[in-house]
Amino acid sequence: MEKRSSFTGKIGFIMAAAGSAVGLGNIWRFPYLAAQYGGGMFLLVYLCLAVTFGFALMAAEIAIGRKTGLSAIEAFGKLNKKWTFLGYIAAIVPAIILPYYSVIGGWVAKYLWVFVSGSGNAAANSEYFETFIGAAQEPLAWFALFIGATALIVLFGVEKGIEKVSKIMMPVLVVLSVGIAVYAVCMEGAMEGVKYYFVPNFEHFSVKTVLAAMGQLFYSMSLAMGIMITYGSYMKKENSIESSVGHIEIFDTGIAFIAGLMIIPAIYAVGNPNTDLKTGPGLMFVILPKLFAQMPGGQIIGAAFFLMVLFAALTSSISLMETVVSVFMDKFRCGRKIACVLVLVLCAILGIPSSFGNGIWASVTIIGLTFLDFFDFISNSVLMPIVAFFTCIFVGYVIKPQSLVDEIETGNMKFKKRGLFTIVIKYFAPICIVAILASSVFDVIYKLITGSSWL
Ligand code: PHE
Repeated sequence: MEKRSSFTGKIGFIMAAAGSAVGLGNIWRFPYLAAQYGGGMFLLVYLCLAVTFGFALMAAEIAIGRKTGLSAIEAFGKLNKKWTFLGYIAAIVPAIILPYYSVIGGWVAKYLWVFVSGSGNAAANSEYFETFIGAAQEPLAWFALFIGATALIVLFGVEKGIEKVSKIMMPVLVVLSVGIAVYAVCMEGAMEGVKYYFVPNFEHFSVKTVLAAMGQLFYSMSLAMGIMITYGSYMKKENSIESSVGHIEIFDTGIAFIAGLMIIPAIYAVGNPNTDLKTGPGLMFVILPKLFAQMPGGQIIGAAFFLMVLFAALTSSISLMETVVSVFMDKFRCGRKIACVLVLVLCAILGIPSSFGNGIWASVTIIGLTFLDFFDFISNSVLMPIVAFFTCIFVGYVIKPQSLVDEIETGNMKFKKRGLFTIVIKYFAPICIVAILASSVFDVIYKLITGSSWL
């Protein structure tokens, strides 16, 4: 068998995994969920889950990958034949996410264009975003551009080049976001928003908040879809899994946190909290142009910001598409080109309704959700928790946590948080996931029957 190439050193591994992890999940998704699910309460639940669940699951996935040297589909099967199915369920997740991820990537590209072409101020108008996504062709064209660019990069195998560029872009994104967040927080009226974002209000605690935070955690850290297993398979034995996970986690959570600080206080300063907090997926596109319109040099900063976000989105969409393409290549025994074409067809089938779903098909809903929200719900709130649950059962009771602890401790490395790891994997995570999943499935059924929510 061909020897697996590996990342050059620990920094190489961390940067590659962070490139996959940091993306629209942090900048686009985290702030609108935090706004919607009670600000400080959401932030608190998210942070608690990140240091327990997030840490344990990421360490487990990377260790499974490094131990087996295989990608998710084969890794579970190699460790135990009966568990091959888990690799397959994990592989479905990126295939559902990629199409709608590209729709949002298209929105980012559009806003980059708006700012570059000097019409950023027009986008500050409240109706601008609605008009944009309400039209049929334009969002579709940007979606096609985004997925087309991703496919070309994957097809010609120039990810390395993109990764190099993104290594420069990421620090710029961080600096820029911190600057924008500081400006936003200092605006008149923003303090109310800072309070909303930082101070947990226990009235906002609900099962839905926990489910949303958990789904967001998996999504943002690229967990529960086999991706970190693949990354782990390329990791060298002499690098520490524990400290790498720590770094990726701090980086990923840090960027999401700053994005929230950029957007939520701004809702109170330039938007209307009564309506904007519940905006959902459009939030960043509605609020940020208003913020940039008031900022000195805002048009240039806006252009630079959307450029960085576009790069962060591209490194993530490449990682998503790469995963789906390699699954297709293995399963259909076809070449890279054909696999890319098949993935594009899939993206068209799922992506076009997602794009229309916010505009001309807004009235078409499945279990009360538009297409984009529906795909988002199925992947984040249903499939990922299921994959995470089975991964915990698999590690906790089939191969036993000790086998991964041994992997993490390879070469006399000390696994400091092994106690936490074992408890989370065996008890805490599976029990929480079952409780949350059961109540949310019950809620969907309850809603279908009675028309109102139980939670
Ligand atoms: N984690 C990425 C984000 O936050 C999304 C992603 C998920 C990318 C899975 C690759 C794989 O945007």
